[in-house]
Amino acid sequence: MPVQLKGRSLLTLLDYSAEEIRYLLDLAHDLKRKKRAGIPGGLLRGRNVVLIFEKTSTRTRCAFETACWDEGGNATFLSNSQMGKKESLEDTAKVLGRFYDGIEFRGFAQQTAEELARFSGVPVWNGLTDLYHPTQALADLMTLEEHAGKPLADCKLAYVGDARNNVANSLMIICAKLGLRYAAVCPKELRPEAGLLKDMTRLAKANGGSVTVSSGLDAVKGADAVYTDVWVSMGEEARFAERIRLLRGYAVTPEVMEKTGNPRAIFLHCLPAFHDLNTATGAEVHEQYGLSEMEVSDAVFRSAQSHVFDQAENRLHTIKAVMVATIGRQ
Ligand code: CP
Ligand code: NVA
Repeated sequence: MPVQLKGRSLLTLLDYSAEEIRYLLDLAHDLKRKKRAGIPGGLLRGRNVVLIFEKTSTRTRCAFETACWDEGGNATFLSNSQMGKKESLEDTAKVLGRFYDGIEFRGFAQQTAEELARFSGVPVWNGLTDLYHPTQALADLMTLEEHAGKPLADCKLAYVGDARNNVANSLMIICAKLGLRYAAVCPKELRPEAGLLKDMTRLAKANGGSVTVSSGLDAVKGADAVYTDVWVSMGEEARFAERIRLLRGYAVTPEVMEKTGNPRAIFLHCLPAFHDLNTATGAEVHEQYGLSEMEVSDAVFRSAQSHVFDQAENRLHTIKAVMVATIGRQ
């Protein structure tokens, strides 16, 4: 049966089959080729979308807006709504459902995204919650696919760092669905949540892949991609001292890239990244803890192995694919 995603939300990749994820990746590659060739798009003509951000963003907001405009749609960035202050989430969702064809939500609780979908009656796309970052994981695998030179199912992705955060959860899910080998490398305190880990381990096995968790960096051996993310996610700022204590041995350095034993291995990071002192937070951490880089060393970040800006660009193409597939005209 052909894949049909019209009217669907993307709240978590747990709700999507391998075929549906494959369809989104193929569509993203097509849309990227079309944009590169300068072919004007019109697949979102007549469509209006609204973007709600409880947390800050550069890539996700810009990707949703430019993706929408590229395809002839309209986007409203809603930064100071009544939602949750003078108007309930339910009432706000019902109003937005009358105006818009789709809603992007970035925020804290996964439940907020779920309730927006329930009450608005239009597709809701999760632009990051405390639990998941599904549009990021699509861009990540698109990038790996472009550079690996082999099918995704033959790839190993090693995630080093806070393996129970939103980015890591979505990566583990997408790898398990598509049958990759996913290796989380983290201290025992930051292992993936037990229930999700158990389910994804079983799913990966059924799909010809694997999910493993190790505390030793040797587990990156054989990786086609080494991935890391910030040590302290948005909303967890009080945990800097604890995370630095737990994770300072897990920075992705040139030695960690060497440990893959694979000179073709790429480095990935969802961004933003703390790889130098050119950020206010980086400078504060330097002053308090003496670190001049955190989850990735500047040398790796700027190396030829690093594809973080291809990955950032692919947020645009994959988010466009999600909107075209769920509310587009094709
Ligand atoms: N990777 C990512 O989601 O970036 P932003 O926080 O800038 O949207
Ligand atoms: N884990 C990070 C991802 C940022 C894109 C956070 O939630 O802050």
